[in-house]
Amino acid sequence: MTEPVSIPSIHVHYRARKLLNMAVTTWFVVTIIGQWTFGGYIIAFYGKSTASGDLAKWNEVLPHGYVKGDWAGNLVVGVHVLLAAVLVLGGPLQLLPFVRRSAPLFHRWLGRLYVVTAIIVATGGLVMVWTRGAVGDRVQHVSISIQTIYIVLFAWLAWRCARTGRFDQHRKWGLRLFMVVSGVWFFRIGLMCWLVLNGGPAGFDPRTFSGPFLTALAVLVYALPVSLGMLELYFYVQKTRKHGAITAVALLILIVTALMAVGIFGAIAGMWLPRIG
Ligand code: HEM
Repeated sequence: MTEPVSIPSIHVHYRARKLLNMAVTTWFVVTIIGQWTFGGYIIAFYGKSTASGDLAKWNEVLPHGYVKGDWAGNLVVGVHVLLAAVLVLGGPLQLLPFVRRSAPLFHRWLGRLYVVTAIIVATGGLVMVWTRGAVGDRVQHVSISIQTIYIVLFAWLAWRCARTGRFDQHRKWGLRLFMVVSGVWFFRIGLMCWLVLNGGPAGFDPRTFSGPFLTALAVLVYALPVSLGMLELYFYVQKTRKHGAITAVALLILIVTALMAVGIFGAIAGMWLPRIG
């Protein structure tokens, strides 16, 4: 026999669900703003310099961006940074429910483009780290390389589940893919949030771009992504009837969203705007 559900209990449950929806919507709005400003920066900085043939300008940001005479390496870097815009501009569009409902064909084509682009950008990034060198230390390089594996695997799984009509699984793998593709963005806003809260560099050496804070950030964003853990918590509370768990996850999402907003503000003011200004 099942326990009768009391009216106050339904009320508490309804309030917890409402809080969760509000938290997720706030997270999503903040994420769209942050990813689209990152996309705007990519177009304004890399798009403009590439279109005008001024590839040496990449080196104002990337120490190993443009290397004279190395056309193959330069091509990999160019493709990586320019296609990155497709991911950060297109990713949030894939998650908007009204786009999926009102323009399913657009969702399907953007999905195919997103999956292929994610694989190209991630494998290009892998080539860049291990052939050209990148800022940071070995732990950071290994961590971001592990993220390439997640991206390629989740892209394949999201695509495969859509092809075979397993839409509940497709939604889950699509969201997991979005989280790992957003890793580089989480890393940037995580770093900027830390800098804003500490009033400058702390826990790492800005000259070598290494130290305990950056090690922890790289591991928790790339190799063992906290974002995936948060997503699994969200999947869990979508199904559970435990009001306490729903409320706790909603509050956690709101706290993380507030930190993300600080990081996005820091990235726009301290990283992206000065480079295109
Ligand atoms: C899939 C999502 C990714 C996006 C959207 C992305 C985006 C970008 C962007 C915009 C830059 C230029 C840096 C800037 O102006 O701030 C960049 C640089 C770079 N990316 Fe990615 N990236 C992604 C994945 C990866 C992966 C998985 C790797 C490595 C395995 C990687 C390796 C690099 C490297 C080495 C640089 C040059 C930075 C340096 O010299 O340290 N990226 N990426």
